[in-house]
Amino acid sequence: MNPMTILGIETSCDETAVAVVKNGTHVLANVLSSSLPLHAKTGGVIPEIASREQIKSIVPAIETCLQKAGVVRYGEKTPEIDVVAVTFGPGLIGSLLVGVEASKTLSFVWKKPLVPVNHLIGHFYSAWVENRRPPKFPVIALVVSGGHTEILLAHDHGQYNHLGGTLDDAAGEAFDKTARLLGLGYPGGPAIETASKTGDLKRYNLPRPLMNDPNLDFSFSGLKTAVVRLVEDLGKNVLEKQVIADLSASIQEAINDILVAKTRKAADKFNVGNIVLGGGVAANTRLREKMTETFGSRVYYSNPELSTDNAAMIASAAYFNFKPQPWKSVKADPSVLF
Ligand code: KG4
Ligand code: ZN
Repeated sequence: MNPMTILGIETSCDETAVAVVKNGTHVLANVLSSSLPLHAKTGGVIPEIASREQIKSIVPAIETCLQKAGVVRYGEKTPEIDVVAVTFGPGLIGSLLVGVEASKTLSFVWKKPLVPVNHLIGHFYSAWVENRRPPKFPVIALVVSGGHTEILLAHDHGQYNHLGGTLDDAAGEAFDKTARLLGLGYPGGPAIETASKTGDLKRYNLPRPLMNDPNLDFSFSGLKTAVVRLVEDLGKNVLEKQVIADLSASIQEAINDILVAKTRKAADKFNVGNIVLGGGVAANTRLREKMTETFGSRVYYSNPELSTDNAAMIASAAYFNFKPQPWKSVKADPSVLF
């Protein structure tokens, strides 16, 4: 692959993320502004609020990122950027449009190729970013975010088979919804992880739906319902601190058990030993521990801050799958999967 400096833009949910990445792996600058604090009260992202914030922050984020990356030459109109990459889906349409329209404009004005990137494939590439030990193909990839739980077999760059996914809630959604039931903040994953630290993961025996089924699909809604019942049975408006900690640890363990079991199943079925973890839930320390216990050094993931939404992963995905499109043909598409 030719050396390339890529500007990545990612605005699929609450974040306005811009990064400059060299050769798919080396981050020159990584800027992220998020409207998450504005959504904390409602316990979930309000699309209208998210896109309005993105409209305000996209240009400053791009300017800051280019400056930080050191790619702007005094007196030159065009920075030292070879390619512009952008998330085109899946995501919130109003949010996606902000990034897609900004990147189209830059591609047109700078006369640089534009590469549209699937958000979930972006998460997959986080394992290549700033990783001294990049993954080796073939790999089984588990992409676990707030809206998706997908398992893929990747034979090489750009060659992916979708093996399974969730039939109802996503893994991140299971964290977010159960955290809400416990009165913890949004996003729920980090809140449950923190509360779990002082909890007993064996105190509540929660269901692990589909865990022992032979297929590679997931289901988390039964786990959420079990937590609803448990909280009702406890019969208190305000749960005791230790109950919250024990429930958090039990929920985290149940979700992670399912994720590890299905990844194991895929690895055995396709006789693949290398595993890539991506998506916000991949930031979970206990999930990383359990995956490492199961697969040893053949499990690959990024720093936690690159597991959650960011633009460096988008630039990396564009580098390894470089297929430019005319700027006019790139459309935001919230429904696209792979
Ligand atoms: O990939 P991401 O940042 O955004 C989407 O594409 O959805 O993932 C966000 C999800 C949320 O559901 C959040 O609760 C979860 O990732 N998450 C975590 C952790 N950090 C974020 N889940 C478990 N443990 C974490 N440490
Ligand atoms: Zn994401």
